[in-house]
Amino acid sequence: MNRVVLIGFMGAGKTTIGEKLATALGAEFIDSDAEIVKREGKSIPDIFTTQGEEAFRQMETELLRELASGNEALVLSCGGGMPVRDINRTLLKKIGTVVYLKADKETIYGRVAGDTNRPLLKAEDLKARIHELFTAREDIYLDAKNVEVDASREVTEVLADILKALEG
Ligand code: S3P
Repeated sequence: MNRVVLIGFMGAGKTTIGEKLATALGAEFIDSDAEIVKREGKSIPDIFTTQGEEAFRQMETELLRELASGNEALVLSCGGGMPVRDINRTLLKKIGTVVYLKADKETIYGRVAGDTNRPLLKAEDLKARIHELFTAREDIYLDAKNVEVDASREVTEVLADILKALEG
């Protein structure tokens, strides 16, 4: 399978792993956030502030629609909220094998603390916010995925697991 989609919570490592996976598979790499930022000429926080979250979600859906109509080798790393819309879960599976990078909440906290580029994590109590969002999304990720990988470990281990899962 040379079309792979990475989903998971913020801080799960989707971009880092996606780049390496694309190299390993000889596939094009697209990061949905980076692609939207490039097209809009605005940062994610700017899009959220000036156009709102719904407009951003619509941009995500439009990108998926485009990618679902192609068939070139591709690794797509998705923003953490991509699978929340029902239509997106359908489109993601149409694009390729959906791999859920599942990281535990402590790992996520360690990776996103201090980051100012994620509007949904602007909170007085970051741990509580992560818990709230993580709980709301856990079943959604499980519903969206074809394969699940433990992403709380080192990048090389996660990558090896994904490659093994894709073979089998
Ligand atoms: C979001 C995750 C972000 C980005 C936006 C919203 C979310 O991407 O798309 O801030 O709803 O979980 P990362 O998962 O790459 O941080």
